[in-house]
Amino acid sequence: MKKEISKVFEERFGGSGVFYASAGRINLIGEHTDYNGGFVFPGAIDKVIMAEIRPNDTMTVRVFSIDINEYAEFGLNEADAPSQSWARYIFGVCREILKRGGTVRGFDAVFAGNVPLGAGLSSSAALESCFAFALNDMFNDNRIDKFELARIGQSTEHNYCGVNCGIMDQFASVFGKEGKLMRLDCRSMEYEYFPFHPEDYELVLVDSVVKHELADSPYNKRRESCERVAHRLGLETLRDADMAMLEAVKSDITAEDYFRAKFVIEEKQRVLDVCDALNRGDYDTVGRKMYETHAGLSKDYEVSCEELDFLNDVARECGVTGSRIMGGGFGGCTINLVRKDLRDKFVETAVAKFTEKYGHAPKIYDVVISDGARRLD
Ligand code: GLA
Repeated sequence: MKKEISKVFEERFGGSGVFYASAGRINLIGEHTDYNGGFVFPGAIDKVIMAEIRPNDTMTVRVFSIDINEYAEFGLNEADAPSQSWARYIFGVCREILKRGGTVRGFDAVFAGNVPLGAGLSSSAALESCFAFALNDMFNDNRIDKFELARIGQSTEHNYCGVNCGIMDQFASVFGKEGKLMRLDCRSMEYEYFPFHPEDYELVLVDSVVKHELADSPYNKRRESCERVAHRLGLETLRDADMAMLEAVKSDITAEDYFRAKFVIEEKQRVLDVCDALNRGDYDTVGRKMYETHAGLSKDYEVSCEELDFLNDVARECGVTGSRIMGGGFGGCTINLVRKDLRDKFVETAVAKFTEKYGHAPKIYDVVISDGARRLD
């Protein structure tokens, strides 16, 4: 990827720049908990967005996307927002740095990536984090701290891309470390690295190839439901809610809001249970919690789809230890905790059954937990 970027950069802009990369992410458990002040348990993966960047001594950004095969050029004022959606991520990052009093001047950039788009692996967070990290390094002597870099990506989603996401994806992309998952408390923003080297198990992603587009999806509606219930309970977020409190207001809220909140309350406890289980090496419990998350995401939170439910059923039939939808939902991948001796059989069966039913094969990714945002020298 680096070679190709370098070649295109040379052709378009002449000479060379500095290389940066940032990663997509997985999340072991803790879905739709981040914007509710709960816990998440992500890790960065070995799929990245990589960019070559060089200041151009103007106030114009010129950027080429190899994968989309499109060029965009824009200024740095609010009115200069580009029309291409991929370029808005980069524009948003520039604007959010400027709004925080940071420096951004014009630059030339070429980027490419191997984070599958719309698969729930946070390709957009990888893009935001890559540019946030690079512009911090290039124009701000790395004065912006890593949490703020993650928030810059998150604000980009909110203000320029129409997705009211939580902090998980950008956090994972910026803070990721090889071989380590991270448990983040999204209220206090305290986090802990968890070495993740299960000897007898692997994480396998099965991509339904059903594209999700969070901006067009009811993601924001889920968040609104949670906020309505928290407000009804007199709380800032559902982090402080429990089932007894929810039952007490059940007759005052819609059934839909009730089930959304129920999922969140149960899910935040599941993250803690999974951490305890991991500490004991108890993968059966980890897996059982993953199946519970899937059921909750499918029935109560309603962010699954037929294909993902099908993949979850196949995993269960194959004896996979844990399986669930990963990320925002509405398509994308399931994450599967699979015993090593079962991995090939499971993949073979899932591909065969899925292809038979839907007429196209799912994609399979083995997960390698890797570093997040970085400069490549
Ligand atoms: C998307 C969002 C995250 C998080 C997940 C669901 O990936 O960007 O902030 O809410 O969905 O856990």
